[in-house]
Amino acid sequence: MHRLLVILSDGMYHSGEDLGEKLGISRAAIWKKIQKVSSLGLLLESKKGRGYRILGGLDLLASNQILSHLSPSAKALLFDLEVLSTVSSTNTHARLYAEKSNASGRVIVAEGQTNGRGRRGKTWVSPYGCNLYLSLVWGFDGGVKEIEGLSLAVATAVLGGLKLCGAENIKLKWPNDLLYQKRKIGGILLEVVGDPSGYCQVIIGVGVNMGMPKNLSELADQQWANVGELLDPKVGRNQLAGVVIGELLLLLDGYKKTGFLGYKKEWLEHDAFKGERVELIMVNNSVEGTVHGVDDSGALILKVDGEIKVFSGGEISLRGCV
Ligand code: BTN
Repeated sequence: MHRLLVILSDGMYHSGEDLGEKLGISRAAIWKKIQKVSSLGLLLESKKGRGYRILGGLDLLASNQILSHLSPSAKALLFDLEVLSTVSSTNTHARLYAEKSNASGRVIVAEGQTNGRGRRGKTWVSPYGCNLYLSLVWGFDGGVKEIEGLSLAVATAVLGGLKLCGAENIKLKWPNDLLYQKRKIGGILLEVVGDPSGYCQVIIGVGVNMGMPKNLSELADQQWANVGELLDPKVGRNQLAGVVIGELLLLLDGYKKTGFLGYKKEWLEHDAFKGERVELIMVNNSVEGTVHGVDDSGALILKVDGEIKVFSGGEISLRGCV
């Protein structure tokens, strides 16, 4: 199916006959593949006498193009880059590697996910060929203690990558959401494999909405925005993927030396809720307070009823607050 998608990615009509010739298969076989293409949720049109086209074309991922956007120092930290078509979840796929090998710097990118996962058990809406879904595996010697604050630091790296591509005014929501005008543009899911008190590997999953079709908005449980709207149309998904991967690799290399402290200032400068009244929803309760930034470990500081308190888990919401 990938070769068919490459031909259709130009957004032009291609007749069944032409496609059959190019791929060396019968028209009936083409028809079967076309059914598979439409099952991906792509805007496929067919017209009598003209053939098939994907409305608006497709900007497909290609490993050589992604790699061309990595600096030599980032490339030196990359162990392997795998570009997949559809996968259940890049994090789940990365976990299989992490369970078998101690290697740091393995990256998996996918065109689409059938079971994209978000934080707190939520679903990450992952349609084919329009956003960014990637996972990176990295090992740490000092167990989970060493990675306190890593998820916030990772958010600054993703933000840095989006900025390098030209996206301005992106903010961070504790602990690691990327927002544009308070609408979600990206999310990060960290999972740990191995010994929590010794050598462990962290799977860093990053999802960035780039060209999410508007008709999928009802599937998301919160307001979202596309980073594509903030970028020059010339910036494609391969560039975005390459630049973000490069920033992540460099951050992970540097994190060993500085921990979260090295990224705290950057995080605070982009705090979307600084000084705002929020509700922090935790597993069994919630508190209301004013945001006073984060501490050296990345925990959230809230002023609750005149008292400064620190929280390491939960989800910030503006709902119900004045
Ligand atoms: C969140 O904000 O809830 C985190 C979303 C993380 C989504 C990414 S997409 C790539 C990777 N694979 C997944 O299944 N999830 C992460």
